[in-house]
Amino acid sequence: PAADRAPAVVIGSGYGAAVAALRLGQAGVRTIVLEMGRLWDTPGPDGKIFCRTIEPDQRSMWFRNRTEAPLSTFLWLDVVNRRIDPYPGVLDRVAYGDMSVYVGRGVGGGSLVNGGMAVTPRRDYFSEVLPQVDAAGMYETYFPRARRMLGVNDVDQAWFESTEWYRFSRVSRKHAHRAGLGTVFVPNVYDFDYMRREAAGEVPKSALAGEVLYGNNHGKRSLDKTYLADALATGKVTIETMSRVRAIRREAGGGYVLTVERSDDTGRVVETKEIGCGRLFLGAGSLGTTELLLRARETGALPDLHPEVGQGWGHNGNVMTARANHLWDTVGARQSTMPVLGIDDWNNPVHPVFAEIAPLPMGLEHWISLYLAITKNPERGAFVYDAATDSAKLNWNRSQNEPSVDAARSLFDRLNRANSTIYRYDLFGGNRVFADDFTYHPLGGCVLGRATDGYGRAKGCPGLYVVDGSLVPGSIGVNPFVTITALAERNMERIIQQDLAA
Ligand code: FDA
Repeated sequence: PAADRAPAVVIGSGYGAAVAALRLGQAGVRTIVLEMGRLWDTPGPDGKIFCRTIEPDQRSMWFRNRTEAPLSTFLWLDVVNRRIDPYPGVLDRVAYGDMSVYVGRGVGGGSLVNGGMAVTPRRDYFSEVLPQVDAAGMYETYFPRARRMLGVNDVDQAWFESTEWYRFSRVSRKHAHRAGLGTVFVPNVYDFDYMRREAAGEVPKSALAGEVLYGNNHGKRSLDKTYLADALATGKVTIETMSRVRAIRREAGGGYVLTVERSDDTGRVVETKEIGCGRLFLGAGSLGTTELLLRARETGALPDLHPEVGQGWGHNGNVMTARANHLWDTVGARQSTMPVLGIDDWNNPVHPVFAEIAPLPMGLEHWISLYLAITKNPERGAFVYDAATDSAKLNWNRSQNEPSVDAARSLFDRLNRANSTIYRYDLFGGNRVFADDFTYHPLGGCVLGRATDGYGRAKGCPGLYVVDGSLVPGSIGVNPFVTITALAERNMERIIQQDLAA
């Protein structure tokens, strides 16, 4: 038997994991949360917890000698990335050949690094993607609950129309409307009251000081301030940081035993231990959860896991692109890092696109309109276990991006035509106009209703649950964390009622 034991263990501390931890704690279940990253609550020598996006230091990225920002160059110059010391920084870029995936590392997972856009998917598309989930329950109960718990709020529209900090959004909106495209306001978890006080010079700046991607020192309601704070307040939940789960096996008598490596800030493993639990909740994200389950199945530790584990991965159709504006269409040297508008062309019968109007806060006027397009891409990738490296490899090749690039091209060609503008060629390396080699939105790998039952119970392994983005089959049409959170709320409610009451 393992030295440490808890009735429940949650792996990871992102959206799905945070919901699981809170609801288990409230149900009175003693729960250990294991997170491979740091707890981000201690200021560095500069008095700040996180570093700035345009001045990255060791805190920016997960054990790197150099930062790997999504925009690699400006005017073809290598001015964006910096040399850094290896350290358990907050953002990771996991490279799988043709596709790289950005993920957050630390207590709060992706909530530490993301843009905070809190979008509820269209109900018709949600039902298309997850037909077995009762949409009425989701839209009446679990989406509202998720939004309330996450602290979702809206920008004040009068302020939006007048502030210099959102000039970039207004310019892109004008251009979209000129092309006959509709735009929508998008809620966020960044506190917009705080942002207005930043603009008024009353409080320390964060979104208005270029902070995003490597963490926000103020204003953002990341999970450590919402779900995870509430989970700790139940007195039933503890979080162990710098603790990476390596292996899962069955325990005699029905539970699970985890092999956990605890590392120091140099990355050296300082302790390897085993933790036993009655019930195990996987919230390590699409990449983390899928790798752990694939390894367990393929090494024979949990041979009964379903063959669908590893299947059904998608990048939510992510493509980034940028347009060059006319000299009179200034986007402003001052830009808020929190996006609040999207171009909504999801009704397009050929090329549905939802494009986030993204900020590019460089502290100077650059006339660039940047976008993260979410497209409907039917292609799916699969993870395979590679015994030589004891890791999961993603099978995804560049040609699988074609539907996404075609859709993005169709929309932005239309925008360029209507405004007599052109693309920017200098931002993504190799004179590329469409950055289709990375994603912010990894989804799938342990798909709901295939690798698991309809509530995330892993098939073939009683007491083992999947709670994160790996449940969503590769696409959701909007930025995904509200969906991941709401789905976790729905599933945890059922699991606690049915499985834990017994
Ligand atoms: P998530 O990835 O959040 O958490 C997994 C956690 O598990 C991590 O903390 C990781 O360190 C940990 N872990 C992994 N393996 C482990 C192991 N073996 N042992 C222990 N711990 C382990 N979405 C959105 O809706 N709006 C937005 O604006 C944005 N913007 C955005 C920007 C950027 C830069 C990124 C990278 C992502 C976004 N996203 C986003 C996406 C969003 O952040 C993402 O969908 C969610 O964080 C996924 O939530 P999960 O619960 O699936 O896992």
